[in-house]
Amino acid sequence: MPTEAATVLETRSSKYLNPSELVDLARYPITDRSSKGYADLITFCREQLLNCGACVLPGFVHQKGVADMADEAAELALLAHHNTVVGNAYLTEIDPTLPETDARRMTDTTSLGAVAYDQMPASSLLRRLYEWDFLMEFLADALGKERLFRYADPMGALNIAVMGDGDYLRWHFDQTDFVTTILLQPGLAGGEYEFVPMIRSGDKPNYEHVKAVLNGSREGVITLDIQPGGLVLFEGRNSLHRVTEVQGAKARLIALLGYDTKPGTTGSEYLRQIRYGRAKPLTENQ
Ligand SMILES: [Fe+2]
Repeated sequence: MPTEAATVLETRSSKYLNPSELVDLARYPITDRSSKGYADLITFCREQLLNCGACVLPGFVHQKGVADMADEAAELALLAHHNTVVGNAYLTEIDPTLPETDARRMTDTTSLGAVAYDQMPASSLLRRLYEWDFLMEFLADALGKERLFRYADPMGALNIAVMGDGDYLRWHFDQTDFVTTILLQPGLAGGEYEFVPMIRSGDKPNYEHVKAVLNGSREGVITLDIQPGGLVLFEGRNSLHRVTEVQGAKARLIALLGYDTKPGTTGSEYLRQIRYGRAKPLTENQ
């Protein structure tokens, strides 16, 4: 990052002595874990997750905080690696022995950019929020997990997904149990987060419904109302989901915070090559 840009970033970051200052603690008292407000918040999160596999916390990062984080992300977005991948909704290799009409053989195109963790200076607001233990402990409680660990991947632990004009994240199932996102900046149009809650389960793949949605059916499709600063917990292993095409000159910027229930999770070099255009992490910021 050029020195001038780094100085701007340092100045913005220094406005916040502690990552807690980015969060609307009056509404989401995550630093006061013995309070009734905290217990109520955890109950609310778990109910939402149980009902539809998603939990939205509007204004989790307050307006001023998210405005600063969006400015920062817009600068970092210049470093994003853009990639286009064609594949199925299952993120698996296509099996040519399946009938051509099988949901697993249907493909579509995903195109978006990603800023990797190692491209974010240690002082960046997003990185400071992600590395804050109170947030991780709150997310563990909200998800009903004993504890969480930040991903150990120097590139994949924290990302900014950058979706410019025409970018699209195709319908798919996740290969992880949950994802945590914070919307920093919406695009001018499009970029809606759509999903079909629990369209499949471990023993019921429900290929016909999946195929119908891939063919344009709206049966069971829900659109999540997410505004800047909104934190979303999403269980995407069994809920088909996508981000509709973004339109217009302003990029949609969303932070993806990587956690797992076990330590040491890293991505493969193959995945890194696709996502970030390089297999090896940068040495600075390590
Ligand atoms: Fe996903």
